Amino acid sequence: MTTPVVVLVGPPGSGKSTVGRALAERLGVGFRDTDADIEEGAGKPIPEIFIDEGEPHFRALEVAAVRAAAETHGGVLALGGGAVLAEATRALLRDLPVVFLEVPLADAVKRVGLDAPRPLLAVNPRARWRELMEARRPLYLEVATAVVDTAGHTPEQVADAVLEAL
Ligand code: S3P
Repeated sequence: MTTPVVVLVGPPGSGKSTVGRALAERLGVGFRDTDADIEEGAGKPIPEIFIDEGEPHFRALEVAAVRAAAETHGGVLALGGGAVLAEATRALLRDLPVVFLEVPLADAVKRVGLDAPRPLLAVNPRARWRELMEARRPLYLEVATAVVDTAGHTPEQVADAVLEAL
């Protein structure tokens, strides 16, 4: 079994994918993103999975994607913002180096909306983001072996901080 050198968790807009790619390059390892794995497996984008099959189905696909990646991927792994909601996923992360990328709403909002659409933030994105963060923060902290504050930092600076934290 090969396990990730680091798993990145955090809310939408915390820069998991951008920082993850920068980190993978520095470390000379591969980068994997469970959102991309789910889309590839389902053959459609995440918003369509939410519309066609619903969120519970998406969450089940997400647990399976995290398990597959956590057991086989030896590089940097980024998880979707809601992956920590599943107890099964939190259990899978228990013995892995997991970094929680903290981000204030203002920074997250600058990034969210520029990327792929997020079904859970489609309406009232600021208020929804705050609600999601409030509910999930304890779960990010539960799985994290380190917390890195991304506020006002470039992805390269955050990658440096993650490397220091490992
Ligand atoms: C979600 C976040 C998204 C994606 C899906 C659900 C969430 O990933 O997994 O839209 O529940 O917060 P990002 O955190 O990469 O945006």
